[in-house]
Order: sequence, then structure tokens, then C-alpha cells
Amino acid sequence: MSRRLWTRSILVLAVIIMTSCLADAEAGSFIKVPKKKYKGPGTTANLKSIIIGRCYHYMSLYPAIGMKDCSRIWQELTEAVFRKDPCNITEEDYKKLGEVAAQTIPCDKSLLWSRTNQLVHRYTKATEDFMTLEDTFLGFLFNGLTWCGKPVTPGMNYNSCPAWNECSNNSLLSFWKIASAMFAQTSCGIVNVMLNGSADGAIARKESILRTVEIPRMNPDKVSEVRLWVIDDIHGQDKNSCNSESLLELQQYIEEHNLNYSCIDNYKPVQALQCVENPDHHACNQCSRP
Ligand SMILES: *[C@@H]1O[C@H](CO)[C@@H](O)[C@H](O)[C@H]1NC(C)=O
Ligand SMILES: *[C@@H]1O[C@H](CO)[C@@H](O)[C@H](O)[C@H]1NC(C)=O
Ligand SMILES: *[C@@H]1O[C@H](CO)[C@@H](O)[C@H](O)[C@H]1NC(C)=O
Ligand SMILES: *[C@@H]1O[C@H](CO)[C@@H](O)[C@H](O)[C@H]1NC(C)=O
Repeated sequence: MSRRLWTRSILVLAVIIMTSCLADAEAGSFIKVPKKKYKGPGTTANLKSIIIGRCYHYMSLYPAIGMKDCSRIWQELTEAVFRKDPCNITEEDYKKLGEVAAQTIPCDKSLLWSRTNQLVHRYTKATEDFMTLEDTFLGFLFNGLTWCGKPVTPGMNYNSCPAWNECSNNSLLSFWKIASAMFAQTSCGIVNVMLNGSADGAIARKESILRTVEIPRMNPDKVSEVRLWVIDDIHGQDKNSCNSESLLELQQYIEEHNLNYSCIDNYKPVQALQCVENPDHHACNQCSRP
């Protein structure tokens, strides 16, 4: 073999080794950051357009909120979740988003809820006297949507996102915690709470947002009373009412937070709405009432 050919073979060999090393490095980086499959659905398609559209819509529905910078809202959402593990997102990450979406809540208008999702929103649509979390600016913007980012790279993950209970610091749960906290914190006067008297178990579960976030964040100097409405399904069982043990326990929890408490069984204006769909039910017959 000539010396020249020998040198060339060495060179070719070196190039082969180098490229195979590069390929290994690439494969290695794929192994280090596997595409993780979460249990929940991925980011809602067209998320950005939906949020910006809802932002302008909200300003037209509730002019009292004033001018909000809708693209800034999107910007702060991306700051909160991009390049982060969707199971390592805390309330702290959404702090800036919370600040740009801040809002004043009129006194006596707040209506919190637990396990009455459908009825409570039918009620606020029908009366317009109360505001639920989903009628606040943040709640309205993000209601029903899913989102999460990806570790390392920017952008949303459209394939899958952590489900509500998949990990404790996930992108959705932490968002709804801070949105609920802000709502409770800025509420004043009488704060109403619609609860489900027909549901199994405790009236407000230990891990519910109501207990873990909303009650602790209320300001006793601004909230004059927490007024619970215990609503039974018209055809459902009466599993809990104001004098049941679970309610007394909740009363104690509320009072421990230096808040005044009251409770109403089957608050009539809500029952009237239930009766629209069940006019023949005995609870709906005005004449049979004592
Ligand atoms: C979680 O996120 C914080 C900052 O947002 C970071 O400092 C921390 O290392 C992350 N933890 C994990 C386990 O990824
Ligand atoms: C109350 O809970 C029951 C049992 O979980 C459920 O079927 C019903 O829809 C709930 N009622 C309301 C008003 O959400
Ligand atoms: C969730 O975040 C909090 C900080 O807000 C941290 O103290 C806690 O350890 C985190 N939990 C998990 C399971 O990572
Ligand atoms: C509770 O109600 C009483 C009487 O209505 C009122 O004087 C008091 O200020 C209230 N307490 C709080 C913490 O708002």
C-alpha cells in the first residue's frame, strides 16, 4: 500500500467514526428527552386565536374591565409554560399572567361552586345577578381549554397534557388554583357558594378548590359572610342539608378562617330554575308548599 493511499484510508476511517459519533449523539439526545405521553388530551387546537378572540369578546361584554392587552395575555401564557415540564408548573409561574388579567369584582356578586358545574352556570346565565369563576376575565378566557408546553423547546404540546390529577403541579391545575385564588381574594361582601346536596360523600371534599384555595384566600376584612346554598337535584336524593354533619364541619372550617357563615337549603331562586324543566314535580307545586 502506498503511503498516500494509507493516509487516505485513515482519513476515510476518521470521517466514518466521526459521523457515527454524531449520529450516536443525536440518538442519545432523543433518548434523554423522550416524547412523554400524558394521560390528558393535548393543547386545544387554535388556542392562541381562541384566547385572543375571547379576550376582545370579554371587553365588549364587560366594559367595566377597561382595555386589556390581549396579545400580552397570550405572551404571558407562553412565558408561564414554554420550555417547562408540564408537571412542574406552579402558581408562581402564572403570577405575571394573573397580574395582567387582574380585575375588580363587585361586592355581593361572587358565586363559588363545588360539584354543581352545570346548574350554577345555567343559573348565572338566567339571572345575571352573580359572577362565577367562569365569568371572571381569567376564567372566561381559559374555560374548557387545555394547554401545556414542552420541556426544553418552546411551543405547546398538541399531543397530550397532564390530566387534572396526574401530577400535583401541572399546567392546568396550577392555573385554576391561581385563577380561583384571585377570585376569592378580590371578592367582597356576601360570598355565595352553590353546593350539591345530592352528591355522595362530604359536601366539600378535603381536596376541593373551595377548601384548599378559595376559603383560605378570602379576606375577613372584606367578606362579611360566606353563604352556602345546598341544592338537591329535583329527582335526586337529599344526602346533605344545612344541618348534616358534613355541613357543620364545613361551617367550622369557614369560621376557623374568621369568616361569618350562613346556610340555605334549596335556595328558592335556584329551585325555580330546576322547576322550569320539572314543572310537575311536587317540590315545584306552589300550592303544596307549607
Ligand atoms: C421545576 O421548575 C423549577 C423552575 O421553574 C426548576 O428550578 C426546577 O429544577 C424544576 N424541577 C424539576 C424536577 O424539573
Ligand atoms: C349533584 O351530584 C349528583 C351525583 O354526583 C349528580 O348526578 C348531579 O348532576 C349533581 N347536581 C348538580 C346540580 O350538578
Ligand atoms: C409543587 O410545587 C411546590 C412549590 O410551589 C413544591 O413545594 C412542591 O414540592 C411541588 N410538588 C411536587 C410533587 O413537585
Ligand atoms: C359577621 O357578622 C356580624 C354581624 O352581622 C358583623 O358585625 C361582623 O363584622 C361580621 N364579621 C366579619 C368577619 O365580617
